[in-house]
Amino acid sequence: MLSTLIYRSQLAGSVSPEQLKALVECARVKNAKADVTGILLCDGQHFFQVLEGSVDNVQRVYQRISTDNRHFNLIELLRDYAPARRFGNAGMALFNLGDYPQHVVMDALLKQVTLNEERIRDDRVVKFLRSFIEGRDKETFVKIDPASEWTLTTPSLIPAHPAFQPAAGQHCEFALQPIVDVANRQIISWEALIRGQRGASPADYFAQLPEDERYQADLDAKTYAFQLAQHLGLREQTLSINLLPMTLVMSEDAVGHLIAQIRQHGLRPEQIVVEVTEDEIISRFDAFHLAVRQLKAAGISLALDDFGAGFAGLSLLADFQPDKVKIDRKLITDIHRSGPRQAIVLAILKCCQALEITVIAEGVEKIEEWLWLERAGVRYYQGFLFARPALNSLPQVCWPARRSA
Ligand SMILES: Cc1cc2nc3c(=O)[nH]c(=O)nc-3n(C[C@H](O)[C@H](O)[C@H](O)COP(=O)(O)O)c2cc1C
Repeated sequence: MLSTLIYRSQLAGSVSPEQLKALVECARVKNAKADVTGILLCDGQHFFQVLEGSVDNVQRVYQRISTDNRHFNLIELLRDYAPARRFGNAGMALFNLGDYPQHVVMDALLKQVTLNEERIRDDRVVKFLRSFIEGRDKETFVKIDPASEWTLTTPSLIPAHPAFQPAAGQHCEFALQPIVDVANRQIISWEALIRGQRGASPADYFAQLPEDERYQADLDAKTYAFQLAQHLGLREQTLSINLLPMTLVMSEDAVGHLIAQIRQHGLRPEQIVVEVTEDEIISRFDAFHLAVRQLKAAGISLALDDFGAGFAGLSLLADFQPDKVKIDRKLITDIHRSGPRQAIVLAILKCCQALEITVIAEGVEKIEEWLWLERAGVRYYQGFLFARPALNSLPQVCWPARRSA
């Protein structure tokens, strides 16, 4: 099957026209052997390359290219399949954008395209090329430092709290994971993540509950989270708790019960963030909306969890606006390498900025993911990169730090 891959990268240093020429000569020879064709653009700061050929061969060439230290921050913009090659005659044609005006480059490039006129008009690959040549969307090019310039601090010692000892017969426990403001090296919130007894997985915990007790158990469990927060003496930070949206609807006076429990454990409602996942909200929306109004009226904040992974998506932001949105890990994983994920997250950021909704990136595990998100304007993070959840206690936090030269 004929596949097409487009990526964009940052030049690692300056490359002279002679060096570029040599690079492309070598590429042509190698590509001819692998029956890979394509085009390479360079604007002095970025490379932009189209590779086409069999799935395996394109992948093999791309893998080689990605380890080349003449560039870094490679972002895959498109991976697609096509009935015919766009650059059937070019082992690797080079266009140095600084040499000629944009329209001259575009005309020359179109002459290389081996598709018929009609297909060229609607072709996504050609649109991508035109957009790069014309320098459109340049503001969405997020430049990042090489990850090798960054490291993580060894965990600072958080004031020692003896771990909380769950009472005998307590049917669930909680692990705490921080939500961090990296620029200010502050923990802004602790998320209480439900676990079964002795730290068993949430799936095991929920599986042993009868279906009709699920919502009441979900509500009752929060008492243990508040006990834990009280024991650990949370003062400045907020405590984020997860609730099944239907818990707010199915359990009688769920909001009143929550508020009573919060106060009983020495916490303020303003310290509590209720996280709900978007796909569960859709059923009984009106009843849910009423519960949300009660929560907000009491001073409790609302966060939309796993945003981008469910069904309701953006229309939910139009219907009701949470205080916080947590972008799902599926959009965050390898964001530094994925053009589609970057486009989606930039759109979410823009939308949330217009609505004054705080954005939290969850599931951050790699320093490169954090580097990209930080440059894109994300301020708050949660993920293994900073701290893993700790059962009945506060985990220590690692902070990104620039390596000294
Ligand atoms: C922007 C850029 C584009 C490249 N394009 C190709 C290419 O299309 N085909 C290729 O074989 N090598 C390409 N290379 C060079 C490879 O990264 C690598 O240096 C070359 O294939 C030799 O690999 P080898 O030493 O492992 O044999 C490119 C390098 C850069 C920096």
